Amino acid sequence: MEQTPNSSDRPVHAERRPVTEKESRRANGPDWDRYADEYQATHGAFLGDAGFVWGPEGITEAELGLLGDVGGKDVLELGSGACQCSRWVATKGGRAIGLDLSYRQLQHSHRLDLETGVEVPAVQGTATNLPFRDATFDIVFCSFGALQFVADIEDAIAETVRVLRPGGRFAFSITHPTRWMFPDDPGEDGLVASQSYWDRTPYVEVDAETGIVSYVEHHRTLGDWVRLLADAGFALTDLAEPEWPRDHDRVWGGWSRTRGLLTPGTAIFGANLLA
Ligand SMILES: C[S@@+](CC[C@H](N)C(=O)[O-])C[C@H]1O[C@@H](n2cnc3c(N)ncnc32)[C@H](O)[C@@H]1O
Repeated sequence: MEQTPNSSDRPVHAERRPVTEKESRRANGPDWDRYADEYQATHGAFLGDAGFVWGPEGITEAELGLLGDVGGKDVLELGSGACQCSRWVATKGGRAIGLDLSYRQLQHSHRLDLETGVEVPAVQGTATNLPFRDATFDIVFCSFGALQFVADIEDAIAETVRVLRPGGRFAFSITHPTRWMFPDDPGEDGLVASQSYWDRTPYVEVDAETGIVSYVEHHRTLGDWVRLLADAGFALTDLAEPEWPRDHDRVWGGWSRTRGLLTPGTAIFGANLLA
């Protein structure tokens, strides 16, 4: 998640600079392939093999209910990783499908299918070009998945609209946009604003040896997200900003109790596609 759990042992340097969708995808696919084993080993137990966690605060879909009743619904998860959330949806009677850029993440999904006995079909692809027919799904969701990794966010939202049925539901969690003002540090230093909230220049890691872009994240403000959803024909119904539970002491990248008790780390949007 976010700015960033450095996803490989290779030396990189971080900078802020414009990058295209092609560069973002070319970097992030292999990056998540390299990082997938460590990601699942580190966070798998917290996520739960068939669990639905919206972010490092640990708030679950069972608590929030942002998707509504998933029973009997066709559900797509964008940036599904090992499809833990989709597996939870399946246990509640939904027909869930996962989509992820990283083949290695999807191999972990297959492993969890076998280990849990709850099978979720999953496909390799990008959120900006979905391999599904129009009006296929009742619900599209994304838990810290693809959306903050794509440059062409309008395409990802347009594709979501295309595959949703009229009146369909869209919900997604992202790094809370206000976090971009702060260094990605779970300690006290991560509480001192050091860069502009309004600077949308992507966060980029460059391989120090090859000079190739190896990881990218994109930032949009809260207002940007509201405008994106409204322009695409969604009615925004929820913006959840989960509070850090006082007894929750788990550090995940830049997310920690130290910061979480003072500033929001996750934003979760819920919206309905106007019929
Ligand atoms: C922080 S992980 C979250 C995975 C999962 N939702 C979870 O909670 O564990 C982000 C995921 O987004 C995927 N991703 C990045 N860019 C993507 C894109 N353009 N299309 C689809 N998935 C993408 C990555 O491969 C990675 O598995």
